[in-house]
Amino acid sequence: MKDITHIRADFPILKTKVYGKPLVYFDNGATTQKPQCVIDTVSDVFTSYNANIHRGIHSLSDKASEEYEKAREKVRSFINAGKREEIVFTSGATSSINAVAFSFGERFIENGDEIIISHLEHHANIVPWQMMCERRGAKLKVIPINDNGEIILGEYYKLLSFKTKLVAIAQVSNALGIILPVKEIIEAAHSANVPVLVDGAQGVQHGVTDVCAFDCDFYVFSGHKIYGPTGIGVLYGKEKWLAELPPYQGGGDMVENVTFEKTTYNELPFKFEAGTMNFPGAIGLGTALDYLLSLGRENIAAREKELLDYATNRLSGIEGLHIYGGSPFKISTISFLLNNIHQYDTGMILDKLGIAVRTGTHCAQPVMDRFGIDGTVRASMCFYNTIEEIEYLGTGIEKVISMFS
Ligand code: ALA
Repeated sequence: MKDITHIRADFPILKTKVYGKPLVYFDNGATTQKPQCVIDTVSDVFTSYNANIHRGIHSLSDKASEEYEKAREKVRSFINAGKREEIVFTSGATSSINAVAFSFGERFIENGDEIIISHLEHHANIVPWQMMCERRGAKLKVIPINDNGEIILGEYYKLLSFKTKLVAIAQVSNALGIILPVKEIIEAAHSANVPVLVDGAQGVQHGVTDVCAFDCDFYVFSGHKIYGPTGIGVLYGKEKWLAELPPYQGGGDMVENVTFEKTTYNELPFKFEAGTMNFPGAIGLGTALDYLLSLGRENIAAREKELLDYATNRLSGIEGLHIYGGSPFKISTISFLLNNIHQYDTGMILDKLGIAVRTGTHCAQPVMDRFGIDGTVRASMCFYNTIEEIEYLGTGIEKVISMFS
């Protein structure tokens, strides 16, 4: 892997100062920073070949369409999907989950059916299913978690029944950074003939994700959390499911033929891509994936593990700091609280030191309720962070504690 100085040089924003202090960016779970190659790619679309995709016979439109389809192929290969038809571009993981919740609900869900999610889910993998349950008269079942923040598999097995029509789980909890036992969850669901959607928003950027090895039925993620642009996301679905599901939006390019009497739909994946797609975003995402491949995904995972171990050790040595989610199965995220100090106070003081962390419920209110708290401070690290930055965070936290003592 490139050395850290060169990696950091790829991300221009990392030179920014906040309140005169060098930016220490530990909010990668919310959104990641962009390497120069991604910024250049998006800029190049607008500078050199901006034209609507799949709609023109002129050269610019051809070029934009070709680059967009190349990006689809890059996504396919990155997550090891079998076919390009199985890769749908959306505006983000949230919109991908909403699409499945709507289309799957319309086609397969009836009164009395059940959907299983876990207690670790982000609101985006809770609310769309609640909405679908309300529409279709179905029930939401929740896999509980233990005090370490790990889901209790035995309870999951008990929830699976002939009424279960779909399981939707996160690959990694955004609030605690815990990795879920996705393979075991999918195997159990499949032995009951139940399909599984995996929310990869916090997983896909931290190592190698292989949807064929998972054998998941749907997999979703967002571009902006994997060093790509905002407003672009991916919905992977096994072809057999995407072929069966009705489209969730109508409009241009998702049609084959339109009359006032009847409309027939385009082939996959275009059936699910209504309206002008965010092609600069998709093309930029393709470049982000190339960038990660050039660093090596195993290298990224190893470096992030090193950061997690160092940070866990450094922070847990601070008296009065409590880490939520003690599981050893984690990505490089630490969620914590300081005795008697509100998370917003901690976050605000750290900000004055140039340190960006996220505070609050992290759009995962049920996780907070489970631990009887109203939020945490979350430091989400990634491969461009350094041990020195973690030391600086540790010192910053000690400063917060001394200010309040
Ligand atoms: N879902 C994003 C996060 O975890 C915004 O911060």
